[in-house]
Amino acid sequence: RRVLVLNGVNLGRLGQRQPEVYGATTHAQLAGHLERTGAGLGLDVEVRQTDHEGEFVGWLHEAASQDVPVVLNPGAWSHYSYAIADAVVQVPFAVEVHISNVHQREAWRHTMVISPYVRGTILGLGLGGYDLALAHVAAALVEPD
Ligand code: DQA
Repeated sequence: RRVLVLNGVNLGRLGQRQPEVYGATTHAQLAGHLERTGAGLGLDVEVRQTDHEGEFVGWLHEAASQDVPVVLNPGAWSHYSYAIADAVVQVPFAVEVHISNVHQREAWRHTMVISPYVRGTILGLGLGGYDLALAHVAAALVEPD
């Protein structure tokens, strides 16, 4: 079963960007790792990243039309993009991931406008949060609710 992992704005700079917050792993390394994690779970994982909100929305439309489960980290868009929230509402199966614990950080990161429209959010568990999200997708596809 195909699964999309969608990373938003600034996440292409993983490894270079604030490594004390986001770690030393690059986006390419994360993508390779998640493809392998997915293969182990029987999932065909495709990882994408963009800094363009419209492109991200387009990917969510694709997931909605094709009924593809999504694991998404919208980066800073998580805190203010009603456009992405409106797109996520249309996706039948979405899990949100944040690498850092946004609630321990600046007040503007405490507003989460997309979280009400996803099944659940994993945050503050580092890059391992993506693996946990994929494990949830795999389990939920075997035992749908
Ligand atoms: C992030 C948290 C956001 O506040 C931030 O803007 C990001 C990354 C995370 O994964 O911890 O870009 O989504």
